[in-house]
Amino acid sequence: MQVRIAPDAPAAAKAGALVLPVFTGGSLTGTAKAIDEALGGALADVLSSGEMKGKLAEVALVHAKDQPFRRVLLVGLGEKEKFEPFMLARYAGTAVRYLSRRGVSQIAIALPQEADNAEAAASFIAEGAISGGFDPAIYQTPEDKKTTVESVTILSGDANAKALQSGLARGTILGEAVNFARRLAVTPANDMTPAILADEAAKAGKAAGLEVEVLDEAKARELGMGSFLSVAAGSAQPPKFIIMRYNGDPGSKELTALVGKGITFDTGGISIKPAERMEEMKYDMSGGAGVIASMVAIGKLKPKLNVVGLVPATENMPGGKATKPGDVVKAMNGKTIEVINTDAEGRLILADALCYANKLGATRIIDCATLTGACVIALGHAASAAVGNDESYMHQFLNVAKSTGERYWHMPLYDDYANQMKSDIADLKNTGGRPAGTLTASAFLKAFVDKTPWIHLDIAGTAYLDNEFAWQAKGPTGTPVRALVSYVESLAGAGIRPNGVAAALSS
Ligand code: BES
Ligand code: MN
Ligand code: ZN
Repeated sequence: MQVRIAPDAPAAAKAGALVLPVFTGGSLTGTAKAIDEALGGALADVLSSGEMKGKLAEVALVHAKDQPFRRVLLVGLGEKEKFEPFMLARYAGTAVRYLSRRGVSQIAIALPQEADNAEAAASFIAEGAISGGFDPAIYQTPEDKKTTVESVTILSGDANAKALQSGLARGTILGEAVNFARRLAVTPANDMTPAILADEAAKAGKAAGLEVEVLDEAKARELGMGSFLSVAAGSAQPPKFIIMRYNGDPGSKELTALVGKGITFDTGGISIKPAERMEEMKYDMSGGAGVIASMVAIGKLKPKLNVVGLVPATENMPGGKATKPGDVVKAMNGKTIEVINTDAEGRLILADALCYANKLGATRIIDCATLTGACVIALGHAASAAVGNDESYMHQFLNVAKSTGERYWHMPLYDDYANQMKSDIADLKNTGGRPAGTLTASAFLKAFVDKTPWIHLDIAGTAYLDNEFAWQAKGPTGTPVRALVSYVESLAGAGIRPNGVAAALSS
């Protein structure tokens, strides 16, 4: 999909449809008002009939056969007072999905008149349009190839052209990264082995100017990654440890590490999972996919800082060589772990990746993982859990993440949880019983982070969804790419500052 900017007046926009925003309770203003007049009041009619109230992602289609745009699609933005700039991504995504299903290939999209932060607006519209165009049905035979929206033109009006262009460039990179993560995640485990995941990371990473290194099993053993390798023991697929480096500030000693769980399939191992919904465990590398895609976006955005992406990738399988409950393994930092349940494998592979981040000299670490079913019980599919060891680091992250539209909920990491992870015969055990499963898993990870400021994101309930939204297909969501990229940009003092848009719109 191509997203571009044109200064055309909306009334003259040549397109299959012209997309206009509507707030709840509002009358038509700005562009929408002018178009309504050209259509003899047809848009005002839709609103006064009560057919559409303007709620977020609500739509109404009005045909306009004598106009250069053939149709008008009104898309709701909700209450003006509650508007946040990320909603423009949902506005654009909703339009792309609705019009794609109706065979429209070119659309023009108006900026809400009030959006004075043109850079943020263009970024969210581009990101939302591109992610709205993602179709998870990558294995369906393209018999009668569906027509989909191929080009989106943002009508700039008198907004700052330079700011719009830079927002467009950023939003395009981010939207493509979100879709890259989703494609990696939705691809089933027979076509997304650790080796294939590593090849995808190498190909996309190098194209984005990153250094990519992939450690094989022998190298991991040499480094002492006994915890990571214990998960790979039952699999016929060789494990890979993926390292992606972006050096945007060679003079600096600061290094941010992004660590993602790369379980390409989680059967549970010897502690095998029930068959029902086990196919969803192809998504157990969503954190790793998120890190790989975020690193690619960071390589293209070029913020001034150093970032390394680490993805331990392996299957978790039962088999004659598989790790057994009760086995004791040793991580890179020398700590011993009693494996009580081989289905608690994510923390085992992350343990060595966190040690490796420290070995590289990371000065801050964020890891993300579809780590615990308990997280889905606690927060459902509405938010990811965020846990960490540094309050100010956490608040900065939560602030930036919130502006992206991805939701993270801060959970506590009391010392009590670490007590649940003590083993009778080793330094740690890998499960702590039913209570607070997300937080005992976090306490386990903390033992490998040491003193480095660290944030852990449990995305088990948010990385993939079995329902669709007006703006997003069902399946993988691309969480946490938006938050990771935006946060990394903010560390370098770069990125968009959408708060200005919010302030302008609520005034
Ligand atoms: N990958 C799963 C967690 C998961 C569950 C992700 C549901 C997405 C949806 C993880 O490896 C796992 O199996 N965790 C166990 C841990 C338990 C054995 C302590 C769990 O949550 O049941
Ligand atoms: Mn598991
Ligand atoms: Zn898992």
